[in-house]
Amino acid sequence: MLYPYLSVNEKGHLTIAGHDTVDLAERYGTALFVLNVDRLRENCRVYVNTMKECFGEDSMPLFASKSLSFTGIYRLVNECGMGTDIVSPGELYTALRAGFPMEKAFFHGNNKTDEDIDFAIRSGIGYFVVDNEDELVSLNRIAEKHGIKQKILLRIAPGIDPHTHKAIMTGSVDSKFGKAIATGQAKAITEYALSLENVELCGFHCHIGSQIFDCQPFCDAADSMLKFMADIKAQFGYEAKILNLGGGFGVRYVESHPSIDIAENIRLVANHVKTACERLSLAVPTVLMEPGRSIVADTTTTLYTVGSVKEIPGFRNFVSVDGGMADNPRYALYGSEYTVITASKAADPCDYLCTIAGRCCESGDLIQEDVMIAKPQRGDIVAVLTTGAYNYSMASNYNRLPRPAILLVGKGFEKLAVKRETYEDLCRLDLDF
Ligand SMILES: Cc1ncc(COP(=O)(O)O)c(C=O)c1O
Repeated sequence: MLYPYLSVNEKGHLTIAGHDTVDLAERYGTALFVLNVDRLRENCRVYVNTMKECFGEDSMPLFASKSLSFTGIYRLVNECGMGTDIVSPGELYTALRAGFPMEKAFFHGNNKTDEDIDFAIRSGIGYFVVDNEDELVSLNRIAEKHGIKQKILLRIAPGIDPHTHKAIMTGSVDSKFGKAIATGQAKAITEYALSLENVELCGFHCHIGSQIFDCQPFCDAADSMLKFMADIKAQFGYEAKILNLGGGFGVRYVESHPSIDIAENIRLVANHVKTACERLSLAVPTVLMEPGRSIVADTTTTLYTVGSVKEIPGFRNFVSVDGGMADNPRYALYGSEYTVITASKAADPCDYLCTIAGRCCESGDLIQEDVMIAKPQRGDIVAVLTTGAYNYSMASNYNRLPRPAILLVGKGFEKLAVKRETYEDLCRLDLDF
């Protein structure tokens, strides 16, 4: 099994932290996200403890809540000592509703409207991660209106290619995010930020991409950022206190993916940062990171009910389930890999080659192609593993499909965290005329 919290019980059913998945599917319906809170806490603990050990008490991981946003998740990560990164007023609102301490919240995004900026300042947001000059002008004006000096980081593109998928690579020079060091624009926006009355520049941020399995791209990004910070110090006499290295550590979706020791990799990055700071005569900044996927992806399993098994001789076998791209668009978007298990026949041999298809009216609505699973039939439960990140948060109501529920489980613990949408919910905003 991919994770130690998965097992098979005497009925031959897949269990998650001891909970029978067939039983959960019966009681809560499918499609269903089942999130293991013990695993979540463990993932948070690794980041929180290692970052404090390496960089001191002020250093912390910020949960990148774009990967999974609902009220309860902000409570859970806060309890574990994490800050958060929010990227929209909707995520901000959800964090506020959860009572998340706003001083630990960082507001991202390459297009924050004046309303967003005003809302975030009124909410007492800790930091803006400013993307561009247009934002800076508005932020300075709105902060002045509120009579405050708003803390900010500047988002910088360090020009590092972490060799990951193009759609999830964000730190290169021609990225839509931030200002590139290579073009001189990073320096220009820094000079501008330092000239403003109502913003306090506290440091710099970069994010180079996602699904990165070793520390080298982070070390390269840190080198580039620290060299930039040293140049800024030499030119403007300003020494940044915070360096945020973004998110991006990889997750093992299938057996063939490498597993990564996150604590060890953070330690290697920390050593690299300290050596570079010494070389550049910089004080070691407070280092932040923004893990999303590596906090939540491997906590969650999606359960589906099989509706049909269609065999096309000489071509392929389709197993259709009662979900699909509306709750998990990642295969359709990026061809992302997943491990699939016939949860109701988890002790049977995995000898059936098939494609797992969703129920949306799109040929591209596939969850995974060419997987080997125990042959299912209508009514069987299929589990797709590692669906905690960028599934629920990317879910839509395409084809008017209600979004699934999220069930929290742990050892001897079970609690619904998000209700399944109803048909009434789907029509909530529709007006009669
Ligand atoms: C700015 C920023 N921070 C953090 C993350 C989280 O990355 P991951 O989920 O790969 O850890 C992302 C993801 O796109 C991001 O854009």
